[in-house]
Amino acid sequence: MCGIIGYTGNNKAVPYLLEGLGRLEYRGYDSTGIATTQGNSINITKAKGRLSVLKSIIASKKQSTSTVGIGHTRWATHGEPSTVNSHPHLSRNGLFAVVHNGIIENYKELKSDLQKDGYVFRSDTDTEVIAHLLERNYDGDLVSTVSKTAKMLTGAYALCILCRDFPEKIVCTRLGSPLVVCTGDEGTFVSSDTLAISGHADKVFRPKAGEIILLAKDKVSFFNKALKEIFITPEKLTLKSTDTDKEGYEHYMLKEIMEQPEAVRSTLSHIIKNGRISFDSFSLTKQEAEAIRGIYIVACGSAYHVGVSGKYIIEKLTGIPTHTDIASEFRYRNPPVSKNDLCIIISQSGETADSIAAMKKVKEKGAKVLSLVNVEGSTISLSGDYVIHTKAGPEIAVATTKAYSCQLAVIYCLGVYFSSLLGILSEKEQSRLIEEILSLPETIEATIVATRSKAESLSELFTEKEHAYFIGRGTDYAAAMEGSLKLKEISYIHSEAYGAGELKHGTISLIEPGTMVVALMSDENVFTKTYSNVREVKARSARVLAVSTKKHEHEISSLDHCIIIPDCSSLTVPSAEIIPLQLLSYFTALKRSCDIDKPRNLAKSVTVE
Ligand code: G6P
Repeated sequence: MCGIIGYTGNNKAVPYLLEGLGRLEYRGYDSTGIATTQGNSINITKAKGRLSVLKSIIASKKQSTSTVGIGHTRWATHGEPSTVNSHPHLSRNGLFAVVHNGIIENYKELKSDLQKDGYVFRSDTDTEVIAHLLERNYDGDLVSTVSKTAKMLTGAYALCILCRDFPEKIVCTRLGSPLVVCTGDEGTFVSSDTLAISGHADKVFRPKAGEIILLAKDKVSFFNKALKEIFITPEKLTLKSTDTDKEGYEHYMLKEIMEQPEAVRSTLSHIIKNGRISFDSFSLTKQEAEAIRGIYIVACGSAYHVGVSGKYIIEKLTGIPTHTDIASEFRYRNPPVSKNDLCIIISQSGETADSIAAMKKVKEKGAKVLSLVNVEGSTISLSGDYVIHTKAGPEIAVATTKAYSCQLAVIYCLGVYFSSLLGILSEKEQSRLIEEILSLPETIEATIVATRSKAESLSELFTEKEHAYFIGRGTDYAAAMEGSLKLKEISYIHSEAYGAGELKHGTISLIEPGTMVVALMSDENVFTKTYSNVREVKARSARVLAVSTKKHEHEISSLDHCIIIPDCSSLTVPSAEIIPLQLLSYFTALKRSCDIDKPRNLAKSVTVE
């Protein structure tokens, strides 16, 4: 969590910092701050609240002409959101200013050691220790001072540092948290991601853990742990500034919902070529596929829900035992993973701390890791044995939609790929399934058209509710989990998802006259079973909104409310079913006047455990 940015060049720094922080707000948005150098002084402005608060404070002051600065947008870990806890943090005598993304695990010991030396702490943050340590370790050389300080820190960090003695420079380092350095005609930038800089630079460097980077307005120098200068070849930065536009939509979430057909089309175009599935950076031989004992899908949040669908889909198509785990649980138990297992880590950002830790655990056990990631160049994307990139493009709304749909599409491809390798599918069946997968963009498009206005009008049912329940079986259960998460995260309505058959083991006691139950009924295998569970909640006077395919219109139209999605194949129906649930959440949150793109307490990239 937290986003950091820095700029040094010939232009004014503040506009770049503010624009970059706006694009980084998805990483946290409870306070913001910037520091700029002017002559030999460091000026700091920071504020509790959204970036707009900081912007209005800056607008009310004399315009800064500084050409060097750093900035931060925060998701609080140590210390409540407040002006004093927001970054940048200054060292005791104001020699250094620091912005930090990550967590310093040994900050308590470092803090008490510094306090013994007379350092007085102004904030409750772990970051402030870094500022003071830099000052205590200062030897007149930025690189060696940062190196010495970094060696004292345990935990995760990406740091951008200003020093009064070198007002034109920024010094940075990272361990565990992401950091990119970008250059171009406008100057030299550093940030948590390339999105913050898109449109202003054309080259990107991706520093490795432990490297120290010294940024000057027209030069970047990299140093390894031994403080020896090293030379890194940059990649081309392809993101355009328009990638972050709302393009006329009121919210990024709605824009991203509407982008799903194109995002899935783009993802599939890299995987299905000439009617065959082949991944750019992942392939197995028949023998390797036969040797797979089990598949572990590990992820967090919505990516975990894709994994739950994946379990049903991959097991059905391949017969390979498939286990789906929440990364934060998986990392602290002792899963019996061995070298004969394949682990799939699913992540939009590629930076989720728990997923990264789970990945490390699996690798230690000798299993191969396949990363399924949206952000190229991210930690998870770079650390797997194999990688498949979804091509959703930048996703900005905290609640994921298009990345989710792209991940699901890849799961279908993986199921068909494994099954074909194992000789389970005939050529004909394989071609039929690939055709079904290829028609996904049209299916999603048709579902948006068919369900948008119904979802909008039915959202009225939820706006005054305090609770809602989502039920389903099979892949409908995965959709129930994702639909429920979407609703609660952006509209703040308490919502739970249950396997429809499990409801009677406790949760049904919560059903009262008028309780909203969303019944997902698109998984053909279990339609009649879920229907029985719907009858059970109806018998207790719940208000049921059923979602199913056109084929079942007749059966479900007798329920209180229904949303009909177009008929589609049993393989791809989870992709259609999720659309009305995304729209329902969106319109409910809209009617409740919630901050849809930036829900309270959340961040899109969860880089702390
Ligand atoms: C956050 C986001 C979710 C996302 C989850 C996992 O909670 O708000 O949308 O599913 O993190 O993130 P990842 O980047 O690993 O997919």
